[in-house]
Amino acid sequence: MADLDDIRDGKEFGLDKPAESKGFHLKGCDHLEWGMKNRLSRIFRPDTGKTVMLAFDHGFIMGPTSGVERVDLNIVPLVEYADCLMGARGIIRSCIPPTSNKPICLRSDAGTSILTELNHNVIIDVEDALRINASAMAIMLAIGDPATEAKTIANLYKLADLGSRHGIPVMGVTAVGKDMTRDARYFGLASRICAENGANIVKTYYCEGFSKVTACCPVPIVIAGGKKLPEDEALELAYKAINDGASGVDMGRNVFQSEDPIAMIQAVGGVVHDGLTPAEGFEKFNDLKK
Ligand code: R5P
Repeated sequence: MADLDDIRDGKEFGLDKPAESKGFHLKGCDHLEWGMKNRLSRIFRPDTGKTVMLAFDHGFIMGPTSGVERVDLNIVPLVEYADCLMGARGIIRSCIPPTSNKPICLRSDAGTSILTELNHNVIIDVEDALRINASAMAIMLAIGDPATEAKTIANLYKLADLGSRHGIPVMGVTAVGKDMTRDARYFGLASRICAENGANIVKTYYCEGFSKVTACCPVPIVIAGGKKLPEDEALELAYKAINDGASGVDMGRNVFQSEDPIAMIQAVGGVVHDGLTPAEGFEKFNDLKK
C-alpha cells in the first residue's frame, strides 16, 4: 500500500503544450502494437531509421564455413559494432555473451543442410524465441521453387501469427534458387509476397532497379551482402542499397570474411547511418584497418 500521508495535487499539466503524436520511424509500422515497435526500435536506430545487422547464421545449414569456424573468436569481437545480431539459437546460447544486450534476430526455421535439398524447413517453437529474448524472428522463403514455395510461405504466415501474438516482428528472408533470375522483377515479387503474408521486415538482395523493389514493398527492407567482395565494392553495394530505399543491411561474409572485420563493420555503419559515400566509407575502412 502506498504511503497516503503526503498526496499532493498535481500542478504541472502543461496546458499550453498539446501531447505530441509522432509517426514511427519505419514505414508500414505505424499501426503495430507497442511491443512490436519497441523491438523494431532496438533493431532500427530511431535517429537514422536504419540498421547494420550482422548475419552469422550460415553455420545452421553450412557448418563451420569460412569466418564462422569459431564464433567466439570471429564474431564476438564484432558484436559491439553491430545494431543487431542474426544467428541460430544454438550458437547464440553457446557463444554470444547475454551481457552484450544487443537485439537478436533469431533464425527461426530449420530442417535441412547443404548436403541435401534446402528449404524443407519447419519453424522453431516461439517460446524459445521468447526465452532467448528475440527482438525479431527470421524465416526463409523459397519463392519460385516448386518443391518448397508453398511450405515456406506457410511457415512465414504461421510465424507471423505467433510473432503478432507475442509482439515479436518477423523477418522474411528471400532465398534465391539457382534457376531464378536475380532482377528487380523477381526480388520485387518475393519481397512483396513476404510483406503481404505478414513479414514486418524483408531481407533480400540488391539488384539493378532496386528502388522499384523497395518502393513496392510496404515494410522495411534490409539487404544481404552475398558472396565476399573487395571491401570498396561491398561498401558501394551498401551505399546503393540505402540510396535506393533500403533500411539497412544484414551482412555476413562481407564483414566477417573481410581482411579486417572490425574496420569493415564500422565502415559499413558509416555508409548506412552517417551517409558516407563509398569512397569515404573505404577511407574509413583503411583508417581503421590494423
Ligand atoms: C540466408 O538465409 C542467411 O540469412 C544468410 O546468413 C545471409 O543471407 C548471409 O548474409 P551474407 O549473404 O551477407 O553472407
